[in-house]
Amino acid sequence: MCGIIGYIGENKAKPILINGLLRLEYRGYDSAGIATIEKDEIKTIKNKGRVKNLNDIEEINSLKGTIGIGHTRWATHGKPSSINSHPHADNTNCFSVVHNGIIENYSDLKEFLKSRKYKFLSETDTEVIPNLIHFNYQNSDETGDTKFLKAVVDTCKMLKGSYALEVISSAHPNNMIVVRKDSPLVIGKGLNENYISSDIPAILSFTKDFYILNDLEFAYISRNNIEFYNEDLEKIHKDFQNITLDTSSTEKDGYPDFMLKEINEQSKSVRETIGSRISSSSKTIISDLNINKKFLKTINKIYIIACGTAMHAGLTAKPIFESLCEIPVEVEPASEFRYRNPIITQNTLCLFISQSGETADTIAALKLAKSKNSKTIAISNVVGSSITREADYTVYTHAGPEIAVASTKAYTSQIVLLAIIAIYFAEILDKNSTKINELKNDILLLPSNIEEVLKDTEKIKAFAKRIYKEKDIFFIGRGIDYTVAVEGSLKLKEISYIHSEAYPSGELKHGPIALIENDVTVVSILTNRLLLEKSISNIQEVVTRGAKTFIVTNQELNDDFDEVINIPKTNYLISPVLSVIPLQLLAYYISKEKGLDVDKPRNLAKSVTVE
Ligand code: M6R
Repeated sequence: MCGIIGYIGENKAKPILINGLLRLEYRGYDSAGIATIEKDEIKTIKNKGRVKNLNDIEEINSLKGTIGIGHTRWATHGKPSSINSHPHADNTNCFSVVHNGIIENYSDLKEFLKSRKYKFLSETDTEVIPNLIHFNYQNSDETGDTKFLKAVVDTCKMLKGSYALEVISSAHPNNMIVVRKDSPLVIGKGLNENYISSDIPAILSFTKDFYILNDLEFAYISRNNIEFYNEDLEKIHKDFQNITLDTSSTEKDGYPDFMLKEINEQSKSVRETIGSRISSSSKTIISDLNINKKFLKTINKIYIIACGTAMHAGLTAKPIFESLCEIPVEVEPASEFRYRNPIITQNTLCLFISQSGETADTIAALKLAKSKNSKTIAISNVVGSSITREADYTVYTHAGPEIAVASTKAYTSQIVLLAIIAIYFAEILDKNSTKINELKNDILLLPSNIEEVLKDTEKIKAFAKRIYKEKDIFFIGRGIDYTVAVEGSLKLKEISYIHSEAYPSGELKHGPIALIENDVTVVSILTNRLLLEKSISNIQEVVTRGAKTFIVTNQELNDDFDEVINIPKTNYLISPVLSVIPLQLLAYYISKEKGLDVDKPRNLAKSVTVE
């Protein structure tokens, strides 16, 4: 988590840093800070809370330096406070550092430095870094610029954990050093100026030419030059990539929040995901996935590994793969998978889903699968992100930038893409052609069906008004509808702070029904005609105990319920793409009723780059 920004050039750094931090705030918003070099002295200003709090400090306008680093924090070590905010300096204020990641051996390093009379002001893991750089700098025989570079390289050799770092020094006021290990960092190349950022969109309005740093590549940056080195201080060559993205997609476009904009964009994002990959008359083409029949025939298990909402997309994809490809699928949270010894052979195919492509647990799980010789496929929304560089194959969702912390359009695009991949595999394997043709037609109709669902949101808004003060809300469904219940429940929790549980409808009576009492809300998803009667019985069981019901369905219902949201009929396997939308909107409107910050819920960050 945490967002990092840097600038070195001919203009004042402060406005550029603040602009970048505002764009990176989705990565964490516990505190923010910047440091610039003013007349060979490092000046640091930081504050608890949002970037706005930092920018409100009057003194910040006096910063005139043309080199600077900035940070927006998601607290790991040390509570959110001004003192724990980045940048952190060494005891002499000669080196200043911003850091995204976790230094796992920071206590040992702190002891090492304390025994050499270094003092610590904060509770962070980061503060050891500028002090170690100072220590290594003081003890180096090098001279000139190499001395600065070597001190940073030597420091990184002492660090265990993950980091993206920017370092400036008052002794080298025209240079900045940046490096990454298991945390993202990109460098934007300008004319007589260079930009550094945790992600591309934050600096895309300044430049289109990007160097994507790999682990333990060190960049020595001045305003008109960038040199790259490896850990052995050997110069390495890197090419920049020209990235074209529509920056307007990172604006709110008149919507009050990114989340509402992104919910409403789903027809477009799903259309982009489909692209020209499927058509009703020809075989599916996934140009980046060059998999042949001989190989696919050897696959006897598919793992789908991801976190949070991306994992929920995986849960939905399991029955799609199993019914079309007839290969068993296991879905697992990356944070669990990475720390056990999963049975993976060369006949196991592992799919990793990550909107950001930077989720630490997902990257680690991918590395584990690769180490066991499994073929790996990354599904990501962010071009060039870490998982896409690690995996054997990458397929992009093309959903467009997702800014709101609560994932919406990325989720629906992930399901659609997974369905397309399942179809692609089944076609290669010559399996289930009738099922596939029906499914393809319904996938092609999804964009217009999404528009249909989004047409009338008044009933959802009114229901949100009715229930926003509740303490517990339940979500139930059977089969694929249960996977949507889980996602609906997560959406509600993360942006409304209402406790919620998702259960397979048939499981309620095995315990959770004890929690159902008068006026508790139960949200139910009903899209499987074959299970309709069973599911209705489960709903009646909670109604009998006094529950209020909010039902999302594409079936004809004879019974009366408190609120019924009808969605268009579609193939059962992809019904989650439609049925989740009312749940996204319900969570959104409840959060708005409560007056909460929908896009930046407390304690969360968009990209979880620490484990
Ligand atoms: O970027 P990723 O898809 O890897 O992110 C995974 C989760 O952190 C993410 O889906 C999270 O659960 C969202 N806040 C859900 O809305």
